[in-house]
Amino acid sequence: MKYSRILGTGSFLPKKILKNADLEKIVDTTDAWIVERTGIRQRHIVSEGENALTMAESAGRQALEAAGLMPKDVDMIIVATTTPIKTFPSTACYLQKSFGIGGCPAFDLNSAACSGFIYGMSIADQYIRQGTIKTALVIGTEVMSAILDWTDRSTCVLFGDGAGAVVLGASDKPGILSTHIHADGSYEDVLSLPIMERKMRSEESIFLQMSGNRLFKLAVNILGDLFEETLAANSLKKSDVDWLIPHQANIRIIQGMAKKLDLPMDRVAVTLDEQGNTSAASIPLALDKVVREGKVKRDQLLLLESFGGGLTWGSALVRF
Ligand code: COA
Repeated sequence: MKYSRILGTGSFLPKKILKNADLEKIVDTTDAWIVERTGIRQRHIVSEGENALTMAESAGRQALEAAGLMPKDVDMIIVATTTPIKTFPSTACYLQKSFGIGGCPAFDLNSAACSGFIYGMSIADQYIRQGTIKTALVIGTEVMSAILDWTDRSTCVLFGDGAGAVVLGASDKPGILSTHIHADGSYEDVLSLPIMERKMRSEESIFLQMSGNRLFKLAVNILGDLFEETLAANSLKKSDVDWLIPHQANIRIIQGMAKKLDLPMDRVAVTLDEQGNTSAASIPLALDKVVREGKVKRDQLLLLESFGGGLTWGSALVRF
C-alpha cells in the first residue's frame, strides 16, 4: 500500500443562519461592504446543544458512511479545531468515546489554526504511507462564533461555524500525492487567540485578534509560492489541476489563486458566500460540497490549500 486515498467525506452545518442584514443591526456595517470586500452573504451559527464535538461527530459519521466503513475501522482520529469544548481531554478523545473505539491514537490539532485540517491530513498521510495504520478520520470543526468580539466589525462579519471530515484509507492507487506544510512564527501578531495570556491577567474578554489587511497580502504571496512548490514536487503543471479546494477566507484571495492556476471559477470549490470562514473546517466543508454535488469525479486532481494563524500554511495534492 503506497498511498492514502480519500474514501469518504462528510460535513455538518448548524441550522441557524446569520445573514449580513442581521449583522447590520449589531455593528456599523452593510451587506454591500461585506459582499464586496469578502464575498460573504451569510454564515451558520451554533444553537444551544451544538458545539465543536457534536458537529465533529455528525461530520465524521457522515464521512464514514460515505466510505462504507464503521467507527471500529478507524485506526486514528485527528480533530483540527481552535475552538474545542475543552483544552483537554481533546475533542478527538471525546469522539473516540462516542464511537466506542478506545485504543487508537486520537488527538486535536489546534495550534495550526485555519491550516489545522491540512496539517492533520499530512500527519495521517505519513502514518498510512508508512503502513502503521490503515484508516484515519480527519476532521475540522469550529465554533468561531464563540471567540468573536461581536462589537468589532472588522472581524465578526468574517467567520462562521461548522465541521467537515474525510476518511483516509490505505490504497495501491494514487491518492494523496504530496502534502506541504509550513509555518513562520515571525508573523505571530497577525492573527491570534490569546486565551491563557488574557486569563493570567484576569481579563474577561478573550477574542480572536486579526490584522486583516496584512494577512490578506501575506496570504496572496504565500499561496502563490505554495502552488509552485506543490506542483514542482510532483512534476506537474498547473493545467493538470482539475479543482482548487481553497481555505475560505476572502473571495478576492480565492479568485486571485484561481487566476494563478488559470482555473475558471466553476473549477473552484466556494462555500464562503453561504458559510463565511469556518477556519479549520473550511476545506473539508468545501470538499464535501463539491463531492456531494457530484462535481468532483474520481481520479481528478485536486489542490487543497490553506493559511492561518501562526502563520501556518499548507497544501495537499490529491488524486481523488
Ligand atoms: N463594514 C464596514 N466597514 C468596515 C468593516 C465592516 N465590516 N470592516 C472594516 N471596515 C472599514 C475599516 O474600518 C476601514 O475604514 P477606514 O478606511 O475608514 O479606516 C475600511 O473598511 C477598510 O479596511 P481594511 O481593513 O483596509 O479593508 P480590506 O479591504 O483589507 O478588507 C478584510 C478587510 C478583513 C475583509 C480583508 O483584509 C481580508 O479578508 N483579510 C484577510 C483576512 C483573513 O484571511 N482572515 C482569516 C485568516 S485564516
